[in-house]
Amino acid sequence: MPAIEALRVRTILDSRGDATVEVDVRAGGVVGRAAAPSGASRGTHEVVAWPKGGVDEGIAIFRKEVAAKLKGADAAAQDEVDGILHAIDGTANFARLGGNVAVATSLAVAKAAAGAARKPLFEYLGGGRSFPFPLGNVIGGGRHAIGGTDIQEFLSLAQHPSPSKSVFANGRVHKAVAAELKKRLPGEAIGRGDEGAWVAKLGNEEALAVVVSACKGVSKQVGFPIKPALDMAASEFFRGGKYVYKERSLTPDRQVDFVAGLVESYGLALVEDPLDQEDFAGHASLTELVGEKCLIVGDDLFATNPERLRRGIEASAANAILIKPNQIGTLTDMAQTVSLAKEAGYRTVMSHRSGETTDETIAHLAVAFGSYAIKAGAAGGERIAKLNELIRIEEHLGG
Ligand code: PGA
Ligand code: ZN
Repeated sequence: MPAIEALRVRTILDSRGDATVEVDVRAGGVVGRAAAPSGASRGTHEVVAWPKGGVDEGIAIFRKEVAAKLKGADAAAQDEVDGILHAIDGTANFARLGGNVAVATSLAVAKAAAGAARKPLFEYLGGGRSFPFPLGNVIGGGRHAIGGTDIQEFLSLAQHPSPSKSVFANGRVHKAVAAELKKRLPGEAIGRGDEGAWVAKLGNEEALAVVVSACKGVSKQVGFPIKPALDMAASEFFRGGKYVYKERSLTPDRQVDFVAGLVESYGLALVEDPLDQEDFAGHASLTELVGEKCLIVGDDLFATNPERLRRGIEASAANAILIKPNQIGTLTDMAQTVSLAKEAGYRTVMSHRSGETTDETIAHLAVAFGSYAIKAGAAGGERIAKLNELIRIEEHLGG
């Protein structure tokens, strides 16, 4: 049993320039370190990110209670550690401690235990048979960009089993998109959003056409499939019972038809959050229409929460789930959601947040839990931290 010898917390910067927490846990003479990301288009059903008093209050509770109660605990007993975090918090949604303090602690403990066992985290957690396909945001809008598309993310999914091939393919799509935008919008400034995706004055379908053609072009060059995908983050523009786009509004039924039409006409491999986060029935209609050829992924819909996912499975609402560790707060809770997804035949997509740090842990979690894909951006320092770790894991396994 590697007993936890010491715990430390500090405030660090995230990619938006906001403060977040990083936790160090020492066990068996080894330090495990993890930091919390932060979302901009957060789902209603996520755990609470920070206590009422913000990051500083979370840090104060950590120093006074978490460090004291976890010192001496067995770092390898993840469920007990996570149980202690819940007990300290005392609420159903980490409202007192903050889910971000909880997740950084929970993951740092797992990393210390892995280090004490002289194993990389993915191996310690029992994974390593296959690699996730990288899913990279190449054009962005919504809450992640000023003046961009209504749809939050236009992504590329490089379908090669080897990360050392696939992550470069997404990088090439990101570049090809920039070249096409420059051609289409001569003289206009083109910027990058929170996740490093390009932001330009484009309509939704125009942006989609650019991404589809970039995916096709690069796919031909590299010789393996690269498929277009969307994260609509539809709850963000669902107002007064309608999906409010810049140029028009759609009823929920019309939204289902619109998305099904996009899947058919553009060959989308995956669509995340196509409808409002409370609309299980609408998701079920869409999944029935196009679920055979496209992954319908619940992010805000499920919020990595086993109860929400159970409800979704019963309603046949989707066929895949986005997994964001800080939406639920602990590794144990996240693992429970992943098991439930697997039992139901749902694919899992391990995901970053729009506000990120250089923490690389989700690369290990994606491999450990056999995720179908990892959504971690295509470019930018805090994004490549995860993608490059995937390459290192592949090398470690002799790929
Ligand atoms: P976030 O959103 O800004 O909440 O991280 C990303 C997503 O919707 O997948
Ligand atoms: Zn999303």
